[in-house]
Amino acid sequence: MRELLEPYRAGRLELANRVAMAPMTRGRADDVTGVPSPYAATYYRQRAGAGLLITEGVYVNALAKGGPGIPGLVTDAQARGWREVTDAVHTEGGTVFAQLWHVGRMTHPRTLPDGELPVAPSAVAIEGRQIFTRDGLLDHVTPRALTVAEIGRTVRDFAAAARRAIEAGFDGVEIHGANGYLVQQFIADNTNLRTDGYGGSVTGRLRFATEVVEAVADAVGADRVGLRISPDNAENQLAEADARTTYRALADALDPLGLAYLHVLENGAYGAVADLRTRWSGTLVANTNGPVPSSPEAGARLVRDGHADVVALGRLFLTNPDLPARLAHGIPLAGPPTENLYGGGAEGYIDYPAATDDLKVLTG
Ligand SMILES: Cc1cc2nc3c(=O)[nH]c(=O)nc-3n(C[C@H](O)[C@H](O)[C@H](O)COP(=O)(O)O)c2cc1C
Repeated sequence: MRELLEPYRAGRLELANRVAMAPMTRGRADDVTGVPSPYAATYYRQRAGAGLLITEGVYVNALAKGGPGIPGLVTDAQARGWREVTDAVHTEGGTVFAQLWHVGRMTHPRTLPDGELPVAPSAVAIEGRQIFTRDGLLDHVTPRALTVAEIGRTVRDFAAAARRAIEAGFDGVEIHGANGYLVQQFIADNTNLRTDGYGGSVTGRLRFATEVVEAVADAVGADRVGLRISPDNAENQLAEADARTTYRALADALDPLGLAYLHVLENGAYGAVADLRTRWSGTLVANTNGPVPSSPEAGARLVRDGHADVVALGRLFLTNPDLPARLAHGIPLAGPPTENLYGGGAEGYIDYPAATDDLKVLTG
């Protein structure tokens, strides 16, 4: 475990330890204004012992929103809400990146303004599944394909949200290129049927991802920008026929930019973390996704073996707000949450106690 608890420095990153809190949507923002929950500053402050905090996904424009209670980084009011979060985290000496999110087809007209249709690279629907809206679960609709002009606007919206994030005090931003949302819908061959410059070949399918990364890096500096990917991830009905070739090409294209980090979420057959490690000269953050929470022990092994520099843990951070301190003191971990994941208020959000508070009392 020692490996996870050591400080990490690279470029602008100065992390107190090598444990990141993985981005986790909690659905508690004001659904109309997209302003973060009044409890969000407390929630993130409680978890500021993570070397790196990555926020829940935050929408970059009105069509980017995936469901009820998702916060945004589009308006001044939203930025003011995030300023409370970043101030709280910095008071505790933490580092926090905002995750910039566009869901593409993974939303519903009931979630979008004026009942608009979701947008995507191509008009390919999620089949036989429903999506959560403010009216409960509804059938997915077929999205409409973005025009080239709209793609350009979306790229600029990512950059504008990144600028707002830095103005709101974030140390950096993470572009959400994982889990079957818009960026990965462009990358995967079953959701991108375009025959223009944004599809048709590996280079074409990677073009949106590279344009977003480059625009965001231009806006706020490459050393403040992370990219999250989940190669070969079948989540949300994605199919990537040749993930290895595709993601190697992506890593090769982006490596020279000097990004803050590449965050690799491994859950496909392709051993993405080990493979991409050999081609990525910068910081690599690793996370795994499965039915049980990723284990800190496995994370420590990744660092020890040189496969990752930082390890992201998700569900365990929800119930163990002081997770790195618990790991340091060998305090038993609480199990992952079984309820109150999405939506609601303080309950199941800021009421998990820090075990180290008891320790402070015991040790004076
Ligand atoms: C409640 C919840 C919300 C999540 N929301 C996001 C999100 O907004 N963005 C994202 O990239 N991943 C999201 N994830 C995935 C996590 O970042 C992480 O990859 C996953 O939980 C696996 O890590 P773990 O085993 O340590 O929990 C979410 C996971 C959970 C449990």
